[in-house]
Amino acid sequence: MDLTDKKVVIIGGGSGIGARLAADLTAAGAKVIVAGRTTSPAVDLTDEDSIRRLAEEVGEADHLVSLASAPANGPVAELDRDAVHTAFDAKVIGPILLAKHFTGRIRPGGSILLFSGFIGWRPSPARVVMATTNVAVAALAEALAVELAPVRVNAVSPGIIDSGVWDGPGKQALFEGVAAKNPARRVGQPSDVSAAALLALTNPFLTGATLHIDGGARLA
Ligand SMILES: NC(=O)c1ccc[n+]([C@@H]2O[C@H](COP(=O)([O-])OP(=O)(O)OC[C@H]3O[C@@H](n4cnc5c(N)ncnc54)[C@H](OP(=O)(O)O)[C@@H]3O)[C@@H](O)[C@H]2O)c1
Repeated sequence: MDLTDKKVVIIGGGSGIGARLAADLTAAGAKVIVAGRTTSPAVDLTDEDSIRRLAEEVGEADHLVSLASAPANGPVAELDRDAVHTAFDAKVIGPILLAKHFTGRIRPGGSILLFSGFIGWRPSPARVVMATTNVAVAALAEALAVELAPVRVNAVSPGIIDSGVWDGPGKQALFEGVAAKNPARRVGQPSDVSAAALLALTNPFLTGATLHIDGGARLA
């Protein structure tokens, strides 16, 4: 499936993996609209009115991608209810509302792509919310694929990716530990994930799937 002149809306396309995907889509000839809380058009997935406004502003689109994420990490005994709610808003409830407001606006042959994460399949302490939201994304992709057919709905589940979110003092030690442990023996790059996202957007027989671009991290 050719991406030339296809209209692709990327929520969270202003940084990290989303920015790389936006660049790759543009290079493939797509017309990319980057949306986020700090971009124009603005959208905040915790706010249904802003999702409705984005859908009205965009009109029709060929593909809709959401990378929005809000961590609520920490031991379960210390979790803050509002932070937990925001994490579900960004990854699960927001995408449900995106599907609600973009229903009828996705053109024939189009798709929705959501972002999950390997922690859902490889839980670790203090990552209860992240694990739960990420598995929920995979379930949501399956459920939406059935309800919104023939619009295709898929998810990508990255492992540890050098997207900028890990930049800081502990990055090198973290990355060395990840590369030593996972079966691919390396940390992922935004280009690795973008390549899978392009596959999900363009393969007409792929729907209800979660692509694990995690170097095998969920297995090790
Ligand atoms: N990097 C990794 O190692 C890794 C591992 C597993 C899974 N993932 C998943 O991959 C996706 C992309 O990760 P990344 O590393 O590229 O992170 P990132 O750079 O932080 O990208 C997240 C994007 O989401 C947008 N966003 C956050 N909250 C939002 C909201 N409420 N409404 C609308 N937009 C919102 C942010 O833009 P604004 O601030 O402008 O709103 C930002 O551009 C995320 O879903 C993440 O959970 C990443």
